[in-house]
Amino acid sequence: MGILEVKGINKRFGGLQALGDVNLSVQENTVHAIIGPNGAGKSTLLNVLVGKLIPDSGSVMFDGKSVLGLKPFEITQMGISRVFQTPEIFINLTVMENVLIPCFAKRDGAYRLHALESFASEKDMIEQAEKMLEEVNMLDKRHMIASSMSRGDKRRLEMAMCLVQEPRLLLLDEPTAGMARADTENTIQLLKDIRTQRGITMAIIEHDMNVVFSLADRITVLAQGMPLVEDTPDKIKNHPKVREAYLGEAQV
Ligand SMILES: Nc1ncnc2c1ncn2[C@@H]1O[C@H](COP(=O)(O)OP(=O)(O)OP(=O)(O)O)[C@@H](O)[C@H]1O
Ligand SMILES: [Mg+2]
Repeated sequence: MGILEVKGINKRFGGLQALGDVNLSVQENTVHAIIGPNGAGKSTLLNVLVGKLIPDSGSVMFDGKSVLGLKPFEITQMGISRVFQTPEIFINLTVMENVLIPCFAKRDGAYRLHALESFASEKDMIEQAEKMLEEVNMLDKRHMIASSMSRGDKRRLEMAMCLVQEPRLLLLDEPTAGMARADTENTIQLLKDIRTQRGITMAIIEHDMNVVFSLADRITVLAQGMPLVEDTPDKIKNHPKVREAYLGEAQV
């Protein structure tokens, strides 16, 4: 049994079958990559896992408990955090304030922005937030307004916002998209460190195969909403079905 067990997920958007009978089993303390061409249904699957979308049928079990029908913050409290394809940060707040928001959410069970007014008295939370910012190498930027940051920094900030929630499962939707090479390499190293130091299980969606093969223990390939093949990186590399799914544009 994996820490995450997804069975028979179907999701239609009108006439489009975005997910068709998707199964996924993610084992504890592994990195599981989900790859596939644009529009394959990868982000839709993550949306189902975090309660943003209700599937038409199927089940999602995390640590033996169903997450379907739970509110997103309840799923976060269970131990699932997510880095979105488009960073979901509060651009008018400082870096530090952004990291404090999930601290309050974790403690109070909901996003209570007004609680920020009293954050000066929340010494333990500030210490925790600073620790996370240090971990993602952003402590020196804690007073910066989030909108002024580079894409790579916004991604790192989002990771810090996930880490303060102390997740057991971290979902990452294209964490290196649009990053310069050096930033991508830093992100690979950061994710390796998070894994070894914190033992967090990860499911990662990526188009950059260098990132995938640097991190993944298992890979699931989705094509047109269907799981095509699931295997080790070595087997996936040379799988004819995978090459076919990418129609020759493949980096695999
Ligand atoms: N809310 C929605 N309403 C209607 N159609 C949607 C919605 N969300 C996604 N889709 C469609 O579902 C399909 C799968 O989309 P999804 O975003 O999951 O793909 P993806 O694999 O993440 O692609 P990419 O690699 O480009 O991010 C696409 O055809 C997309 O246009
Ligand atoms: Mg996507």
